[in-house]
Amino acid sequence: PAPGWTTYADVVVVGSGIAGLTAALRIREAGLGSVMVVTKDDLSAGSTRWAQGGIAAALGPGDTPEQHLADTLVAGAGLCDVEAVRALVTEGPDAVRELIALGTQFDHTPAGELSLTREGGHHRNRIAHAADATGAEIQRALVAAVEAAPDIVVQPHALALDLVPGEGGGLAGLTLHVMGEGQRDGVGAVLCRAVVLASGGLGQLYSATTNPAVSTGDGMALALRAGATLRDLEFVQFHPTVLWLGDQARGQQPLVSEALRGEGAFLVDDTGARFMQGVHDLADLAPRDVVAKAIMRRVRETGAEHVWLDARHFSPEAWAHHFPTVLASCRSHGIDPMTELVPVAPACHYASGGVATDLLGRTDVPGLFATGEVACSGVHGANRLASNSLLEGLVLSRRIAAHLAAEGLPPRRDPAVDPRAQGLVDAAARPTVQHVMTERAGVLRNDEGLDLAEDALGAVLAAPAGGAGVGAWETTNLASLGLALAGAAQLRCETRGSHWREDHPERDDARWSGHVDVRLEAGRP
Ligand code: SIN
Repeated sequence: PAPGWTTYADVVVVGSGIAGLTAALRIREAGLGSVMVVTKDDLSAGSTRWAQGGIAAALGPGDTPEQHLADTLVAGAGLCDVEAVRALVTEGPDAVRELIALGTQFDHTPAGELSLTREGGHHRNRIAHAADATGAEIQRALVAAVEAAPDIVVQPHALALDLVPGEGGGLAGLTLHVMGEGQRDGVGAVLCRAVVLASGGLGQLYSATTNPAVSTGDGMALALRAGATLRDLEFVQFHPTVLWLGDQARGQQPLVSEALRGEGAFLVDDTGARFMQGVHDLADLAPRDVVAKAIMRRVRETGAEHVWLDARHFSPEAWAHHFPTVLASCRSHGIDPMTELVPVAPACHYASGGVATDLLGRTDVPGLFATGEVACSGVHGANRLASNSLLEGLVLSRRIAAHLAAEGLPPRRDPAVDPRAQGLVDAAARPTVQHVMTERAGVLRNDEGLDLAEDALGAVLAAPAGGAGVGAWETTNLASLGLALAGAAQLRCETRGSHWREDHPERDDARWSGHVDVRLEAGRP
């Protein structure tokens, strides 16, 4: 649609979680020009505030970035970019200290040291946390910092639609659909010199997810349409333990933090038997893919719909001080975890892949940067290590700002005529997309199911409804990402990290130690 309004900012940051707000604050500090933050809801929305466990960094006595690197590489199952991980773990401790300096209040021990806990795949206690609401505390501090910087313009309730291509290449701006009343309304364009995508993941591609309603993969779909490469899309991490609310539960589900298992909670099946011992040397604290697969196997073997988490031995003080969020969400669903087992099952949690970037957050569209969950910088490989995601957003955003400060902003370009024609699908197709992805391209995948998924999603995309509006854009984004993801999952004929092929159950390093890249060709991924 033709923009109904136009404005200008030197840099537009899309997204307001840890990655977006860090980028905005850092770019502003570098004095590079005007900064606008575009967010789909208000400034405190996004996935960051839902993060429970915490943020990983080698901050404890005896821990080192090398050990954090080793754990990250093991979880990534051979597909991490070692230099990207090295940057993450080496710059991580300072980045976390900077969050503290900004006002984030992490928990401390009685002796005044930072209290560090543990999660799956970590051989050390290295998770800085604020009870089990770490993301909310980080978000609070970042929002306060942005609000104290009145020259950062915030555009709330705005969905980023597409890049405005630049004359001669690169970009000239970004189109938005602003929802609601205010200075701007409807579709418009922000002309700019650089766009930083920090718009989070794609959890809403599946029926049940830990992600909030805004996580509809908009940044990845936008980047794909703009000619960027998406990488490692097939590696969607399913968190092993969300509160099981019945097989009809849809949308965002309550997370039961892995930090409970870090503090000694354990999984049992319907008969009360522990089943993680013997599966992995870290037992209940094995990397996430290992635990999710073990749960799915047990569920299949026993015919149950979920397994149980036993944390009945935690003291009332531990519940009150360390896990108030989990305690409250269990109780609000009629479960008392102090005396009862908690029913848990896996749900879609994190996109390890995304828009391919280098270590400076650059995508292959000049002027377009990506950071946080929307990006694939190479730090997660085939399976993200717990609590490395907040860290990636923080470190990569600092790097983008440092790069722009050193190199200057790209030149301002005139808008080129956009040859892309995009038909939007009917917003009502969303449950079909989610159902197909959950059934055919979820935790368990095989060739036949992925074929069916591609056919079904292709059919959704081939029937544009001529609709407009945010729901139609989101559903179009979900359907095209689903198609890209199912295609990548079908191509990778092996089982690795969070990608589990029933028909190719082994890891195949001889054929599959590289990445699957997705680009748009003739309008299709
Ligand atoms: C959790 O608290 O279990 C989630 C942490 C993460 O996804 O890194």
